[in-house]
Amino acid sequence: MSRLRATPLACVVTLACVLICWQARAAATGSHGAVAAEHRLASRAGLEILRAGGNAVDAAVAAVLATGVVNPSSSGLGGGGFMIVYLADEGRAHAIDYRERAPASAHRDMYIRDGKADTKASRRGGLAVGIPGEPAGLELAITQFGSLTLEEVTAPALQLATEGFPVEGHLAKQLEANTEALAADAELAAIFLREDGRPYREGDKLQRLHLADSLQKFAKKGSSPFYAGAIAEDIETAVRARGGTLTRSDLGSYKALQRPPLATGYGDWRLVTMPPPSSGGGTIAQVLSVLEPYDLGELGQNSSTYLHLLAESLKAAFSDRAKFYGDPDFVDVPLARLLSPGHAAAVRTRISSVRALPSAAYGNVDGGSDSGTTHISVVDKDGNAVACTTSVNTAFGSMVGVPNRGIVLNNTMDDFSIQPGVANAFGLVGNEANSVAAAKRPLSSMSPTIVLSKGQVRMVAGASGGPMIITSTLQTLLNVVEFEMSVEDAVTAPRIHHQWMPEMLAVEGGIPEPVRDSLTRRGHRLRPFSAIGSVQAVEVIGSSGGKRTVRAMSDPRKGGVAAAY
Ligand code: GLY
Repeated sequence: MSRLRATPLACVVTLACVLICWQARAAATGSHGAVAAEHRLASRAGLEILRAGGNAVDAAVAAVLATGVVNPSSSGLGGGGFMIVYLADEGRAHAIDYRERAPASAHRDMYIRDGKADTKASRRGGLAVGIPGEPAGLELAITQFGSLTLEEVTAPALQLATEGFPVEGHLAKQLEANTEALAADAELAAIFLREDGRPYREGDKLQRLHLADSLQKFAKKGSSPFYAGAIAEDIETAVRARGGTLTRSDLGSYKALQRPPLATGYGDWRLVTMPPPSSGGGTIAQVLSVLEPYDLGELGQNSSTYLHLLAESLKAAFSDRAKFYGDPDFVDVPLARLLSPGHAAAVRTRISSVRALPSAAYGNVDGGSDSGTTHISVVDKDGNAVACTTSVNTAFGSMVGVPNRGIVLNNTMDDFSIQPGVANAFGLVGNEANSVAAAKRPLSSMSPTIVLSKGQVRMVAGASGGPMIITSTLQTLLNVVEFEMSVEDAVTAPRIHHQWMPEMLAVEGGIPEPVRDSLTRRGHRLRPFSAIGSVQAVEVIGSSGGKRTVRAMSDPRKGGVAAAY
């Protein structure tokens, strides 16, 4: 970036040293198991469970619950998500969909006022809240695939919430950036603001006693109090007090689902990832099917031609995302056609090697923030793996807290296309396939992915960052699988992002200037971004005689630290 050009050499050297140290701190190597989460205490919670004999599912759930305590802008019991579980002894993957669902009162035009979309209503307050899926999804994961009890896997999060923890950089930034909205909700203000009304700062101790009580109930009784008991009543009251229409009966009707995972090949690798209602797996698979015949290794990682082909493939795939993807229980997503060799060949024929085509040739980014979502990757000593992405959508979701429960409710209703062509908080447009309807799940970009080679887990990855989840996960996978980078280099490497609309190519500062110039000459409209997504990944770097070496990497972009033993 021009900023770097103008920077004295000493500062560049210092920055490089900081980045190298940061990278070393964020990675961890072990010979049994590993956890990569966006917060060191969440990775540690997962590791504690692995060390205690839990499997990858137990560790992932422990890390998810801990993230909800220490980074509550990213996820929590008021949100929802997706999990891919690979069981080594079965040689099979499973997908859990615990995405939020629209209440029964929801309808196609619920956010239209005088013919115009009211994006404030879909993003903040009671109408923005979808039925949370997190308690049901985590309970399903443990009862179906875990080896420990809910009480055991909840223990590390409960301890953090009860004893308190130091506020770290990411949360401090989110509290600072959202003080006004947090102050407008009595529960959120009580949790996150000090008596003088200022947010807690880095290094301050934060205790979450109301959340500890909710976690205690989850540990003892599972998800039922959240869907039928006292907590359900409080969720209804909180949502209604802020203008929403979600009821206890909506909560009572919620079910987490198991779906067949989406499987796709890339060379000798097999990817298992999330099918709709997430667009993440399908979009990644579509881009890979377009890119596979090119000799990307020959072009070179982050070369201008590679990034041009990647950007054009992303435009094509995101255009299909906008048109075709939605909740498969409501719309027929034509995945077989979108993932067919014929569709990929048709996209390749359209791509020009020298010019970026206008997005209209393939059928608005205000960039994503990585603040409302989190990802956890785990591999255990037996070769089981979990990729779990979970979210409250944008930072602190709807900004509605459940009184005395410590729960931050999601604003996932904004992931619907509230009016055809109207961009959501991530600049994504959509149409009828993702329109609002009662009991429908909004489309997601979450992309929890497990890569297999010769029937063994090779890599686990996923990200936060709205649509940048897709591009950051995809580039990290390609960096390892195609460009043979180590997992820490793959996660740290600078990234690009294109989501078809708007016509702009987001570029991180680390992409070299000659490459940026070459992309501009091809007609891409570049826009500098400080961070594109936040990836958490684990790579199995060696395996023989039942022993494996695992390397986990938490993305320095969000300040995470991985853990392994
Ligand atoms: N809430 C972000 C996503 O699901 O894509």
